[in-house]
This record gives sequence, structure tokens and C-alpha cells, in this order.
Amino acid sequence: MAKCFLVVLGERQCLSLLIKYLMNTRKRASQRVRGNLLSLSLAMICGVVSSCGQKKTDVEKAADGSRTKKIVVGFSQIGAESGWRTANTESIKSEAAKRGIDLQFSDAQQKQENQIKALRSFIAQGVDVIAFSPVVETGWEPVMQEIKKAGIPVILSDRAVDVADNSLYVTFIGSDFTEEGRRAANWLAKACGGKAVIAELVGTPGSAPAIDRKKGFEEVLAKYPDMKIVKSQSGDFTRAKGKEVMESFLKSPDAKQITALFAHNDDMALGAIQAMEEAGVRPGKDVLIVSIDGVRGAFEAMASGKLNCTVECNPLIGPQLFDAAEAVMAKKTLPKRTAVQEGVFEQAQAAAELPNRKY
Ligand code: AHR
Repeated sequence: MAKCFLVVLGERQCLSLLIKYLMNTRKRASQRVRGNLLSLSLAMICGVVSSCGQKKTDVEKAADGSRTKKIVVGFSQIGAESGWRTANTESIKSEAAKRGIDLQFSDAQQKQENQIKALRSFIAQGVDVIAFSPVVETGWEPVMQEIKKAGIPVILSDRAVDVADNSLYVTFIGSDFTEEGRRAANWLAKACGGKAVIAELVGTPGSAPAIDRKKGFEEVLAKYPDMKIVKSQSGDFTRAKGKEVMESFLKSPDAKQITALFAHNDDMALGAIQAMEEAGVRPGKDVLIVSIDGVRGAFEAMASGKLNCTVECNPLIGPQLFDAAEAVMAKKTLPKRTAVQEGVFEQAQAAAELPNRKY
């Protein structure tokens, strides 16, 4: 009852109304009613006194657990270029819904300028936390400075940025792309006995996974003089582009020498498999194929003998992302880098592993 009055009228107004009422009814009210009104007044005086000059900020309320307002997170996603990305978006959206987080989601359709626009609109909206998966590594410093000035914490999701000032973001949650490249090369070196003529389908130019996966792959290749990359071109992480680029590789005069394909993601490998089949080349046999992600389609291709190996890159990072957002709101200190656990899968494991795949 007291709470109802407080909500509708506000503390001070309630208090003065009560005192007036108490004075008027002093003579006619029974002992019991007077007692009740008196304790109500006392409770309200205590409430008013304790809240005077002590309004807590949202961050303070999150820290002491008294915040009832939803956390608002602005998330700028790259787009929907691959099965991996679709699974990543789904993980983020479903986890936000599960936790009652108000997620402002924006799809940049592969364009950095769209991401920058989205980030500026998150600043204008005054969201609590900004998270984004940067399409490329460079060019973020100015907008991230604006976010910092607005006092909004930033969480990097999936891909890192190349900035001189590390204080521009709180934490980066994502895979070790260089290690994924190393794993792909180590698998291939073993499978081909250290001898291969390799075609490479590169991811989006300038993106962290394209740069780092290439770096990690070549780092291992340096130990094998008979393993050489003879063709390398971007397939933009999409199936259609992967197919198109593989078609052009297969039309080149030295196409017959290619014994292996390293695709920076499964979608491009799946497109390349189609191109090989159309050109009468047996994927997985005439050409060994290793790719990265571990999407269901890759497991199906392995089970049917067309893909040889996929190095896992886990997109299901929604829970880690919102753990971080909640921790930031509660003023907890976070590590600058949160890694994601991943494995390597070969054809022999594909059929058994398929039912367990979540993406
Ligand atoms: O950043 C992760 C990469 O982006 C995935 O390997 C790829 O499939 C996606 O598009």
C-alpha cells in the first residue's frame, strides 16, 4: 500500500499528504488506525531521508544488483556472408533474448561505412554497451574515439581491430585465427607427406581472419620446401565467390598441377567443391581440401568424401559476449582477450560428429 502511494505520487508528496491526514483524523481515528498511519509515515520518512542526495547511476545499480532497467546493447554485425555468420547472429540474438537484454542489432551488409554509421547511431541512442564484429581491421580509430568520449564501453566480437590505443575497447572475444591457419597447414603437411601444389581461397581482403589465417598457414609452410602456394585469390568468404574463383583456377593452364586447396572458410570450400565437380575433378581425392569453420555443410561434405578436413572456428559466442556486457556494467575488470575453444575434424570423424554439430 505504502509502495503504491510512493510510486504514483512520489515520496515528498505522499509524506505531506499523510501528515495532513494524520492531523485531521487525530481526534476521530481509533487507536489502531492512528498506529498504522504513524508507522507508515515513519517508513516514508526513512525512505525519503535515505534516498536524499544519493541517486545511483545505472552502472552503480548494475554493480550492486539493484538495477531493474534492461541493459541496452548496440551490436553491429558484418552481414550474412557465410553459414558461420548466420550461426553467430543467431547465437547473439537468442542469448540476448534469454537474458532480457535490449539488443539493438544492425546488419552492415559487408560494408565498413554501414558499420560506422551504426556505431554513431548507437552513440546517439545512448546505449549502455556497444559491441561489433569489424569487417576489416583498420579505419576504426576515429569512431572508436567518439564512442570513448561518449563514455560507452566497447566489446569486440569475433574479429579484432588494428588500433594504436588499446583503451578504445574493453575486451576482444574471438578465435585465434593465426592458430587456425597453422592447424590447417599442419593437417595438410601430414596428409600430403610434405609435398603439395596449393591453391588458396582467401577471405575478405583486409579482414582479421584473412590476414591471420594466411599468416599462420604460411608460417608452417616455411618448414616444408615442397609445399607451395601457386594460386591465391579472395573469394570474400562466400560460397558463390569461392566457386567463381575456383572455376578460374581450374581454367588456367597449370590447373592440373594443383593437388591441394586451402580455403579460409567452409563456404568457399563448398563453392570450390561444386566448381571441381563441374570441371570433372574429384574433390577430396584429386585435390585434398582443408578449410576453416566446422559448419554442418562441411561435415556433410566430409561424410561424403568431398572435403578432407575442417578446422573449427566457433561462432556460438553469444553467451560469452553478454557475460562480458553484464560484467562491464557491473564494473568488473575483464581480460583484454577472451579466447574460444576449438578443434580440428577429419573425414573419419565426420559421420559420428554430425549429429552433435550445433551450427
Ligand atoms: O570472422 C570469422 C569468419 O567470418 C568465418 O570464418 C567466416 O566464415 C566468416 O564469414
